[in-house]
Amino acid sequence: MTSQIKNPCSIFCGSSASPPILHLTNISKSYPSPAGPVEVLRAVNLQVDAGEFIVITGPSGSGKTTLLSIAGLLDAPTAGTVAFAGQTLPPNDEETLRDIRSRHVGMIFQRFHLLEHRSVVENVMFRYRYLPHGRADARQRALALLDQFGLADTADRPARVLSAGERQRVAIARAVVLPPKLLLADEPTGSLDPAAADRVMDCFRNLHAQGITVIFVTHNLALRAFATRHLRCAEGGLAEESNVESPMSKVSA
Ligand SMILES: Nc1ncnc2c1ncn2[C@@H]1O[C@H](COP(=O)(O)OP(=O)(O)OP(=O)(O)O)[C@@H](O)[C@H]1O
Ligand SMILES: [Mg+2]
Repeated sequence: MTSQIKNPCSIFCGSSASPPILHLTNISKSYPSPAGPVEVLRAVNLQVDAGEFIVITGPSGSGKTTLLSIAGLLDAPTAGTVAFAGQTLPPNDEETLRDIRSRHVGMIFQRFHLLEHRSVVENVMFRYRYLPHGRADARQRALALLDQFGLADTADRPARVLSAGERQRVAIARAVVLPPKLLLADEPTGSLDPAAADRVMDCFRNLHAQGITVIFVTHNLALRAFATRHLRCAEGGLAEESNVESPMSKVSA
């Protein structure tokens, strides 16, 4: 299988929403354990304005994935509120949360979470299932994106047979096939060879330049160079870090 990615994401055009696109207020999250609740996030505040490209770094186990799950409306905080595009979200209204997720949030999971027995193209089409789009159009767009990611040959294979790098690209394609307002990426280059990682970063740069807001978690400190803002997650909190000179700010200037 080729690892070539042909100018990914160039066919899609996102649009920015009124700021802030995401507002987390006093978010805490704890998990039960035999020794009592383990507090992972403590009164975290994060306002994300439309058009930002936020890179979050921090030690393993510091709560980055937990934070993205809450920001992606997949997991409810133990305390605090989540507002999306100015609308404070009721944590238990699964229908509303699913509707916003499906239409506006693209999520690239650290562990991919592909439907293992479904074909690659069905995985990429997944976000269409809650939308009133024609299925033929969804398949066409998914196939076009797979082609751009160098994955055209895998379209009808079950996801379970793919390599880690191929799975990662399928996960990215699924997140961006419907251009989201907010793209959340949890270590999206972690399984990629350097050339494929560069192509994926080009993809993120293009999506950001088209108006998509990005929150990007990584252990690769070099990727801070893509950020308009850099945050560090540690000891239950989020702290602003001074940014290195950012090519992203030049792109969006
Ligand atoms: N569902 C869960 N139940 C219990 N504990 C959990 C659960 N999910 C996460 N944790 C714990 O919360 C802490 C933060 O986990 P999280 O996955 O958010 O860290 P992370 O910063 O993303 O780490 P990494 O960089 O290794 O991906 C860890 O100690 C983890 O064990
Ligand atoms: Mg993680």
